[in-house]
Amino acid sequence: MTRSRPAVPMILAFLTFMASAAGAEDAPKDNITAVRDENGRYYTADDVPTFKIAEDGTVDWLTYSGFRRYHSECHVCHGPEGEGSSYAPALKTSAINMDYYDFVDVVTNGRKKVNAAENSVMPAFGENVNVMCYLDDIYVYLKARGADALPRGRPAKKEAKSDAIKEAETACLGHE
Ligand code: HEC
Repeated sequence: MTRSRPAVPMILAFLTFMASAAGAEDAPKDNITAVRDENGRYYTADDVPTFKIAEDGTVDWLTYSGFRRYHSECHVCHGPEGEGSSYAPALKTSAINMDYYDFVDVVTNGRKKVNAAENSVMPAFGENVNVMCYLDDIYVYLKARGADALPRGRPAKKEAKSDAIKEAETACLGHE
């Protein structure tokens, strides 16, 4: 009896390993797939905001809102639909390739490349509530475009705006 004891933890360890391997398959660890929904906001396994688009084309609220905010604040330089322009990069590609926190940092603090060959200025939006209160919206919209999950144009069908999203917006804009 004493001799067989060490075998039990070995089997348990093996079963635990198998179970976690199967779990990892269920929840992809990439930077695009939504694995969690928090009151109408979607997140990846790494807790980075992302989009959620149903098979019938219904988009999450942030993606819809991001389409509108992008076209009022960013498209003048970055081109319609996140496609880029001769002046500024295609943000649908940036949203896929850049780290989320780097993306937030550039929008908040701006970035400049000014030298003999270039005069490229990304303004700082840190003081602009019409951008900062909708930064995740803009980011997930661009990510959906970059992942080819969302066609051009205003999304036709959208999820309802949740109470949590409404409350966060009101608090961020500084209204009563
Ligand atoms: C006045 C023009 C202008 C506007 C408006 C503007 N941008 Fe930019 N943005 C630029 C330029 C130019 C660059 C490239 C800067 C550089 O070369 O470092 C840039 C770069 C960026 C980058 C880095 C991209 C990368 O791949 O490195 C992000 C992210 C970005 N902008 C987000 C935004 C968002 C979001 C908005 C709207 C809220 C916005 N920008 C509005 C001009 C603009």
